[in-house]
Parts: sequence; structure tokens; C-alpha cells
Amino acid sequence: MGWTLLACKDVDEASGVTGMIEFIDITFEYRTAGGSVPALRGVSTKLLPGELVTVLGPNGSGKSTLARLANGLLHPSGGRVIVDDIDSLDAARVWDVRSRVGLVFQNPDNQIVATTVEEDVAFGPENLGVNRPAMRERVAGALEAVGLAGLEKREPHTLSGGQKQRLAIAGALALAPAYLVLDEPTAMLDLQGRSDVLEVLARLRDSGTGIMHITHHLADAAAADRVLVLARGSVLYDGVPSRLLGDSELLGRCGLTLPPVGRLAEELRAAGVPVPADALTAESVVSAL
Ligand SMILES: Nc1ncnc2c1ncn2[C@@H]1O[C@H](COP(=O)(O)OP(=O)(O)OP(=O)(O)O)[C@@H](O)[C@H]1O
Ligand SMILES: [Mg+2]
Repeated sequence: MGWTLLACKDVDEASGVTGMIEFIDITFEYRTAGGSVPALRGVSTKLLPGELVTVLGPNGSGKSTLARLANGLLHPSGGRVIVDDIDSLDAARVWDVRSRVGLVFQNPDNQIVATTVEEDVAFGPENLGVNRPAMRERVAGALEAVGLAGLEKREPHTLSGGQKQRLAIAGALALAPAYLVLDEPTAMLDLQGRSDVLEVLARLRDSGTGIMHITHHLADAAAADRVLVLARGSVLYDGVPSRLLGDSELLGRCGLTLPPVGRLAEELRAAGVPVPADALTAESVVSAL
């Protein structure tokens, strides 16, 4: 399948060596008329190919800043961001970094650039000068990957919110990124749209793409390989979801509260029922019983 090939591009080109995004002791300050606003303070973390990392944290904790640093839209004030051995500060390789790290934002309407679904997905590779046959393959592969194959001729504004957001993801995939960073991609979606997008993310992860998913939904952490919690620009937690989700004291320190299903699971555990800590949906709790 085209989309599997897209996702594995980085492995091919690096002749078997898989890279990673490495954030090394990142400090970031926004410069404003009133002075500088600290957004990140000494953040170190990684994103590996084929890994799904959920990023949580209260408003203003630095999540969006981290996303923009990942693909070189912002440069660190201190520390370094290394994408597959390329320093994001290397001016000669700006586009190399941008094409490896796809960014998807919250509002799908702001990410639509063309009048049909296929033209919208083709926009990015067209600008990179990808030739026509390769382009057709990329567009088809990207639409297939997000479950929008068959809607090529549709006008994007006629799609549902969830479909529009999957179109935005297809647009990012058409650039054949090794990593996708999504900044609250489901915040404006209904339940169905949200679960469709989450399913696409899990599939892309399985095909080798490194995914950083920024979200306000603690329940999204259950599907992650790793969870990063930021607070006031620092890392409060970086580890497996089950340890965080199973430790209410740690959750409290991270300013997070379990959704009702998670609290039910916690009570069941306290009563001796072996419900796993990452069971945060009704289905997963029921299947554990
Ligand atoms: N363009 C900007 N100019 C000045 N300060 C900014 C700018 N963007 C963000 N900040 C500040 O940087 C800090 C981190 O912001 P950031 O947007 O990264 O947080 P966030 O975790 O994404 O928040 P949210 O959950 O609200 O999206 C905050 O104090 C914020 O006010
Ligand atoms: Mg944000």
C-alpha cells in the first residue's frame, strides 16, 4: 500500500537506521513588546518512529510551543532540537526538517487550501515539485491512509468536521513525513469525528510514523505508548500511560483528573477487581470484568 511506503520513507533513506526527534534541554521564550514570556524551561524528550506519544498539560503549559519547535517553525532559545540527525537551527536544511515533521492544527477549516479533496492533498507535494505520477500515488496513498478514498472530487467544505481533520492529516501525509505532530486535532470534533481521527493515528503509528498527539483528553493517553505531561513549561511526567493513570496522587500533581469511567475503574481496583489502569473507556472496563 502507498501509505505504508510513505510512512516508512525515513527507514529506507537512512539505509536501515531509524532516526528520532530529540528535544535536548529546550528553553523557549516568546519575545513581546512587554519583554519575554518563558514558555519552555529545560525540556528534554524524544519521539521515535512508530511511537505514539500523548502530550497533556494545562493551558499555557507549552504544548503548542513544543509542537512548533518540532518542525523548525520556532527555534529554541536554548538547547537543541535534532530531527534524524539534523539540527533544526541548520538554515540549509530547514525544508528537510519541515518535510520530515508534519504539523496538524486544531481548526480543520483553517487548513483547507483547495476546492476539491484531491487538490487539497496535492497542494503540498505540488509545491515541492513532485512529478505527476508520484503525486497521484501520494495523494491516493494519503487519502487511503485516512479513510477518505472515494471522496477525491468532493468539495472540502461539504465534509464533516472529522472528515476535514482527516483531510488535513492526509495533506500532511502527502509530504511523506516520518513524524506527525498534531496540536489538539480533535478539539473541534464530535465524538464520532474524534474516534475516527484517533483510529487513523493508531494506524499510522502501526505503519511506522512517529506521532505526537497533543490533547486535553486524559482518556486519549490510554492508547499511547508514552505520555508527556507539561506544566508551566517543564516536564512533570514522561513515561508509560499505565503508571500515570494508575496513580491518582501523581495525576493530582499533574493537575489531571480521571474521566468518570477511569474513576469507576479505580474503585473496582480498590475492591479487588483487576481492571487495568489504562482502561478508560466503558468497553475496556467491561472487557476487563
Ligand atoms: N505568540 C506568543 N507570544 C507571546 N507569548 C506566547 C505566544 N504563544 C504562547 N505564548 C505563551 O507561552 C506559554 C506557552 O504557550 P503554549 O501556547 O505553548 O501553551 P499550550 O500548552 O499550548 O496552551 P493551550 O492548552 O492553551 O493550547 C504561555 O504562557 C503563553 O501565554
Ligand atoms: Mg496549545
